[in-house]
Amino acid sequence: MLRLFVILQIIVTSYCCLSCSGGQNQSIEPGKIWNDTQGNPINAHGGGILLHEGIYYWFGEIKKDSTWRVPYITTWECYRTNAGGVSCYSSKNLTDWEYEGVALVPERSNPASDIHFSKVIERPKVIYNQETGKFVMWMHIDSEDYSYARAGVAVSDSPAGPYTYLHSIRPNNQMSRDMTLFKDDDGNAYHIYSSENNATLYISLLSDDFLSPSGTFIRTLENQSREAPAIFKQRGKYYLITSGCTGWAPNPASYAVADSVLGHWEVKGNPCVGKNAETTFDSQSTFVLQAGGSDNAFIFMADRWNKADLEDSRYVWLPINIENDELSISWIDQWDLRHFADE
Ligand code: DGJ
Repeated sequence: MLRLFVILQIIVTSYCCLSCSGGQNQSIEPGKIWNDTQGNPINAHGGGILLHEGIYYWFGEIKKDSTWRVPYITTWECYRTNAGGVSCYSSKNLTDWEYEGVALVPERSNPASDIHFSKVIERPKVIYNQETGKFVMWMHIDSEDYSYARAGVAVSDSPAGPYTYLHSIRPNNQMSRDMTLFKDDDGNAYHIYSSENNATLYISLLSDDFLSPSGTFIRTLENQSREAPAIFKQRGKYYLITSGCTGWAPNPASYAVADSVLGHWEVKGNPCVGKNAETTFDSQSTFVLQAGGSDNAFIFMADRWNKADLEDSRYVWLPINIENDELSISWIDQWDLRHFADE
């Protein structure tokens, strides 16, 4: 009953917002161009969402202008754009997104800076620290050949930024590439990242201010070469969806289940079902969003990368079905939040 009420509330908010803001996206269409409220394609790749005081903030990589292949890297297809920084969009209804601007501005003059446009800034995620009142952003920072393999940290006093870049680290003295953040109900926050040259995933408890690793961590999915982690919790169980490591090319997702964030994680296999399940519907996980705080409204957020024109990479958002601790994700051409009320 409570679940239905929460979902209905989001739907009512959705339609109120649609009529008062002039928004035009009444549904989610995975893989289609998704315009913001000004009519420009949303540019927030590898992103994640923060819900703060009833407003959703979507942070993602800005991929702009030309895409090229780094010529001296021949062992894999290293396509890139200049690092455009981190964008932020806000929404009350999850379909209409207002552009808030560049939350983390890349550095233009100092090539030695971690966030110089010649570097890699990927998979930004933001969580709020109640104790310090700071919004904390972590992101994957890399050199153009991806050998730097570090995690960057930035902070702001307001959700949409601007964020001040602090530094990058190799958390727990190990490499860090694809990553996400997870804040648990008890206030503890975790940094989850592909480490050991992408062979093994680390789940690392953050310090109380969320600015550094606490020193408590686990290695999991050892030697399974998983990346693009997206984690959520439902009714006491933790679910972790990851992709394989195939550059910009899609591959089968896999998920694992645990009773505690710090494990043990049991691998369950590909949650995607139906046509194109083996390529995660031509996409790669980035985040799982719990819509409206409901315990049965989880959205799988993924990127459909276009390696030849990274700016034109699309978003694939699909509802997650959870039954008896098992996940399934099916393709839907067009859907809206009423999907969860129907369940
Ligand atoms: C796969 C990662 O998941 C992406 O974020 C990006 O780093 C590409 N590799 C680069 O090829």
